[in-house]
Amino acid sequence: ARRADEEYDYLFKVVLIGDSGVGKSNILSRFTRNEFCLESKSTIGVEFATRTLQVSDLAIRLLLLDPPLIVVNKERDLLRDRISSFGSGGSMRSKFYYESRWVAWLGCLVEGRIIKAQIWDTAGQERYRAITSAYYRGALGAVLVYDVTKPTSFENISRWLKELRDHADSNISIMLIGNKTDLKHLRAVASEDAQSYAEKEGLSFIETSALEATNVEEAFQMILGEIY
Ligand code: GTP
Ligand code: MG
Repeated sequence: ARRADEEYDYLFKVVLIGDSGVGKSNILSRFTRNEFCLESKSTIGVEFATRTLQVSDLAIRLLLLDPPLIVVNKERDLLRDRISSFGSGGSMRSKFYYESRWVAWLGCLVEGRIIKAQIWDTAGQERYRAITSAYYRGALGAVLVYDVTKPTSFENISRWLKELRDHADSNISIMLIGNKTDLKHLRAVASEDAQSYAEKEGLSFIETSALEATNVEEAFQMILGEIY
């Protein structure tokens, strides 16, 4: 049966941060409304937009990653007990069997659940920013955005990360996004450098283009999957 639009099982607040002009507002509008604006104005204060997603698709994508990113807290522990009740078979075959049961089991758990993603956006410019503590309150995920054509925006990521660690919950899932990959001839930050920075800091990482709609969907699927 179809569920009403306003119904959801989980509400996840995710905040966007990063220097002014890196494309936060356009990443938000691309994800929530599939819109992009070449002449968007700097954000003043705070804005937010929401989008609801079905989880099954999300979980299956994540399970295909190696190692699987999904963590279903209580459910995972229950599952562990179940798996161990099968005995600890050492052969590849039984290992595969357990793992495929794990996947099937998680699939049952998540099927049809609805996540409402509430994405918050504020100004990169200090003078237009919202009150920091209120912005981060209750956030389960944070997306740190830089512009692949602007090395300073990448260098400033460590400052944004510090702000996040000072103000947000310590369990927050953090993702690093390098935006504007469509500007190939202007690229000034190598993917490898960002990737190794992300690994060092324990962040997930992806490159996007809000203009071409490349990886925007994937980025939010990843962060929402991590939260979930
Ligand atoms: P503040 O609100 O000032 O913090 O900036 P912001 O991070 O929200 O940036 P915004 O989304 O307003 O984008 C700034 C400029 O970059 C706009 O002119 C956008 O059209 C452009 N832009 C955003 N994303 C992309 C992208 O993926 N590719 C290209 N080529 N331009 C982009
Ligand atoms: Mg903005």
